[in-house]
Amino acid sequence: MKVAVLGAAGGIGQPLSLLLKNGLPSGSELALYDVNPVVPGVAADLSHIPTGVKVAGFGADQLEDALAGCSVVVIPAGVPRKPGMTRDDLFNTNAGIVRTLVAAGAKACPDACYAIITNPVNSTVPIAAETLKQAGVHDARKVFGVTTLDVIRSKTFVGEMKGVAPEELEVTVVGGHSGDTIIPLLSQLDVELSDEQIEQLTPRIQNAGTEVVEAKAGGGSATLSMAEAGARFTLKLVAALGGEESIQCAYTEVEGQPTPFLALPVRLGRNGVEEVMDPGAFSSYERKIFDDMLPGLQANIDKGLSFARES
Ligand SMILES: NC(=O)c1ccc[n+]([C@@H]2O[C@H](COP(=O)([O-])OP(=O)(O)OC[C@H]3O[C@@H](n4cnc5c(N)ncnc54)[C@H](O)[C@@H]3O)[C@@H](O)[C@H]2O)c1
Repeated sequence: MKVAVLGAAGGIGQPLSLLLKNGLPSGSELALYDVNPVVPGVAADLSHIPTGVKVAGFGADQLEDALAGCSVVVIPAGVPRKPGMTRDDLFNTNAGIVRTLVAAGAKACPDACYAIITNPVNSTVPIAAETLKQAGVHDARKVFGVTTLDVIRSKTFVGEMKGVAPEELEVTVVGGHSGDTIIPLLSQLDVELSDEQIEQLTPRIQNAGTEVVEAKAGGGSATLSMAEAGARFTLKLVAALGGEESIQCAYTEVEGQPTPFLALPVRLGRNGVEEVMDPGAFSSYERKIFDDMLPGLQANIDKGLSFARES
């Protein structure tokens, strides 16, 4: 199976590529594309690691070659936040980047799955879906916004607070992927959390990205934890395409839900999303913050769709 990372020379792209070089099944191909001329060097560097994954680097004018024959296209290309910025402030730059990359994918690998990391995910996923629709190759089962970072942060913060092993926690996070659109369903956990603890943890999870942006003091946003999250999601997707199903939270196109794109648990299988799962029970607090954020999420979606339709 061939996997492409677009934006592979960046803060997320490099460690993500390392994790994929080590984690993809033997015999896979890993295509690294970036407009930064350092990318052939990143590929050469990774190629010295002794695994059965073949790595190749592709420079700015080799996008089609990078994408040809891909089954999975992972996109962390674009600019990250600086202190004081929201994810939506990235829209003007990143919307065009995602559109260009997905339009190229529509031609070079029309059956591929897309895992979109580039923010604002709430808008870039609708842009990707609309771009594929316009090219006549859209399959709603194959376009994902990667929200795994919200899941792994939830596990970590609950684990820290309760003194339990974070990896043993299963947390469902629904909604979108920015600030108050991130809705962790902490009331479903087996560990006992008081209402007060849930109301303390929820905003921490929602603002965890900003915690990193501020700590990096102008040097960017989460890269290492995001690379880990992106690799976890990509490896589960690759496994599912090979027949090993699993349930993962992701931001996808949905039907019969309050918004046309929503993060929910989905069953991944040979065709991408095989089934959108019921997220389970919400507490009254979770229901309220979910309902309250829907107009904002819908506005993010509309902004992405309008951009893709007008450009
Ligand atoms: N989904 C999430 O949970 C999550 C978390 C953190 C960051 N992000 C987002 O991921 C994106 C990347 O963040 P980063 O820290 O790696 O940024 P970065 O600036 O370190 O890297 C971005 C890379 O994209 C490349 N790039 C820019 N335009 C390109 C194009 N047209 N084609 C190919 N490559 C291109 C750049 O050359 C650079 O190497 C940002 O939009 C950021 O907001 C998402």
